[in-house]
Amino acid sequence: MVTDQASLSTLTGHVEAYEPDIDRILITSEEIQAKLAELGARIGNDYAGRKLLLVGVLKGAFVVMADLARYIRLPLEFDFMAVSSYGAATQTSGVVRILKDLDHDLEGLDVLLVEDIIDSGLTLNYLLKNLRARKPASLEVAALLRKVDLQRVPLDIRYTGFEIPNEFVVGYGLDYAERFRNLPYIATLRPEAYGGA
Ligand code: PRP
Repeated sequence: MVTDQASLSTLTGHVEAYEPDIDRILITSEEIQAKLAELGARIGNDYAGRKLLLVGVLKGAFVVMADLARYIRLPLEFDFMAVSSYGAATQTSGVVRILKDLDHDLEGLDVLLVEDIIDSGLTLNYLLKNLRARKPASLEVAALLRKVDLQRVPLDIRYTGFEIPNEFVVGYGLDYAERFRNLPYIATLRPEAYGGA
């Protein structure tokens, strides 16, 4: 469940310099950790005895992947891809470029793609097609956040953390102009925050 308005005490004391820019907390750190523990347990059951490779989509997903991986009580490996879709703007362009490719050969591996947020779904749609062509034994998706009713393409997401409204959010890996990634919660920004970047 998503908290409407977290208390100010959750806000204060983490990154003081960000506080003037934060409007409200959508998902608290405690809610994120509880959800990842639940997803990690499900993934642990589903992949027991298999060759699990977590693929994180940089940069945003590195925070989710770091925590999620520690809730999966199985041997597993990490790999990362870097793609570009947003640039410095807050809207999806639909253009996906691979900036860094995987180190692993996916053939025969059970691949779980880890994303921080699915917005239009265009990035994920592109990545799934691209990874499927490399013949993994299986390919599924774990996403911390999914914006409701915004996907422009049908997507099958096996593990979803939270569904959120169509608002621009930062924190827990998500940035605005590269800031706010190290917040432990998901928050919206005040309109003035977009001016000074
Ligand atoms: C975000 C996010 C997804 C993508 C989702 O990455 O991590 O990869 O956008 O958008 P879509 O569903 O509309 O395609 P971003 O391009 O902001 O890069 P970053 O993780 O490096 O901040």
